[in-house]
Amino acid sequence: MNVNVAALKAAPAIDPDYADQILGPNTASRRAFREAMLQAVDLVADGTAGSLYSGTSVQGLRALLDDLDPLPEVGTGIAAALADIGRPALEHALAVGHPAVVAHLHCAVAVPALAAEVLISATNQSLDSWDQSPFATLVEERVLTWMTQLAGLPVSASGSFTSGGSQSNMTALYLAAARFGAQARRSGVILTSEQSHFSICKSAAILGFADDAVIAIATDAEGQMSVSALEAGLQRVLGEGRVPVAVVATAGTTDLGAIDPLSEIADLAAARDIWMHVDAAYGGGLLFSRHRGRLAGLERAHSIALDFHKMLFQPISCGALLLADRAYFAPLASKADYLNPEDAVFADAPNLVERSMQTTRRADALKVLMTMRAVGRDGLDALICQTLENTRAAAEAVEACDYLRLARPPSLSTVLFRYVSAGGPDLADEITLKTRAALFHAGIAALATTVFDGRVHFKLTLLNPRSTPDVVHRVLDAIGETARELETHHARA
Ligand SMILES: Cc1ncc(COP(=O)(O)O)c(C=O)c1O
Repeated sequence: MNVNVAALKAAPAIDPDYADQILGPNTASRRAFREAMLQAVDLVADGTAGSLYSGTSVQGLRALLDDLDPLPEVGTGIAAALADIGRPALEHALAVGHPAVVAHLHCAVAVPALAAEVLISATNQSLDSWDQSPFATLVEERVLTWMTQLAGLPVSASGSFTSGGSQSNMTALYLAAARFGAQARRSGVILTSEQSHFSICKSAAILGFADDAVIAIATDAEGQMSVSALEAGLQRVLGEGRVPVAVVATAGTTDLGAIDPLSEIADLAAARDIWMHVDAAYGGGLLFSRHRGRLAGLERAHSIALDFHKMLFQPISCGALLLADRAYFAPLASKADYLNPEDAVFADAPNLVERSMQTTRRADALKVLMTMRAVGRDGLDALICQTLENTRAAAEAVEACDYLRLARPPSLSTVLFRYVSAGGPDLADEITLKTRAALFHAGIAALATTVFDGRVHFKLTLLNPRSTPDVVHRVLDAIGETARELETHHARA
C-alpha cells in the first residue's frame, strides 16, 4: 500500500475550539462536556415549574424557528446555543411532568432514567454488535432475562429492546408470518380485537399482508375481546382456507385500558398452534406492581410487546419485545461480514443485531435498569398503584358531575367520559373538541378526546402519580366552565 506521508503531514490541524466540541479523552473536551451538561441541567431544573404549555400558536412557533439561522458561519458556542434554542425548546415544550398533562400514553420521566440518558448518549454504545457495546449488550440481555422471568415466560425466552409498541408489534408479526413464508402474504390473517392499536393494521400493511388480512374481533361491554367471537372468527377463517398467522390480544387497550382474557385466548391459540402475540405496551406496566396477577395468561404468549415509556416513567424511546423462545428470532438473524461474521471474532459475544430490525440501536435498557435499581420494587409498585388509585378517584369525580357522563368504569389509568349538552349530541361533540383546544392553549390542562360508541368523548390518561383528585377536580371544573361558555357563545351566534 502506498501512503502519501507528505500529504498527511500537510493536512491542516483542526482548530482546538472545534475539536473540543467532540467528547474525547482530553481534558479540554471533558471540561466542555461538563459545562454544557451543567448549563443544560440548570436550564431544565430551573424551568420545570409553571404552566404546562406556553399557549403559543403553531404559527408563532414556526416564526420563532424561521428567525433562527440554523447553521451560522461561525458557531455561537454552547451558552448562546442553549439560550437561543434550548430555552425556547423548554419554554414551548409540553411539560410532561405537570399533573394536569393527562392526555396521552406519554409519561412524566423518572430522574434516575434521565441520569442514565446522559450515560447512554455520552457513551453512545450501539447494540448491533458486541464490540460496539461490551457492557451495554450484556445489560440488555440481563434486563430482558429479568423481564421474561417477570412475565412468567419459559427459560428459553429472550427479547430485544425496541423503539416502542409499534416496532414490537411489527417485529412480532414479522416473526409469526415467517413461519408460513409467502403463504402468509397470500392468505394469512391476523385476528385481533376491534379495540386493538392501529399499529397492528399498519404492520400488516407494511409486511405485505392482504388488505383484508386483519380480522377485527368484537369486544364486550368492557372493551375486552370476546372469546366466542374469536372462536367464530377462527372457524370462519379456517373454513375459507385462510391461514391464521397470529392472534393478537391486547393487555391494556389505548382508550379503555381493557385487558383481553389472555388465558382463554391462549387456550384457543394453543389448540390450533397459532402464534399468540400480546400487545402489553400499555398494561405491561402492571408487571411492576402488586396487580401483575391481572395479566394471568401472558406467560403463554409466543411474543409480548412491553413499553417502558408508558407506565414505567421512561424517557422516549423505550420498549421491548419478549419472545417465549429465543429460536423465534431466527428470521432476523442475518449475517454481515463487517459486523457479525459467521466465524465469530469474539467468542461467546452476542451480537444483538440478530434480534432486531434495527442495526444501530440505543442502549435503552440501561435507563430501565437504573430506574429499577434506584427506585426499587416497592417504589415502582407505590408509584403505579398511586396512578391507578388516582384513576379510580377521577372516575368517581366524573360521575359526580351532572354535566359529564362516564363511558365505562376505568380498567387501568384512562377515564373516558362524555360532555352532556342540552343542545344535543352533535353540539356536545363540537364543544368537547373546542374545550380540549381551549384548555390546552390556556395552559390549564392537556386532555385527549377520542371517539367511543360513535361519539366524541374526553379522555384522561393518568400516568402521573401527581395527578391526584384535587388536580382532577380542577380539570373537571375547567371543562365545565369552558364548555358552558362555548355553549352560551354558540346559542348567541
Ligand atoms: C396498546 C398500544 N399498543 C401499541 C402502541 C404503540 O406504541 P408506541 O407509541 O410506543 O409505538 C400504543 C400507543 O399508544 C398502544 O396504546
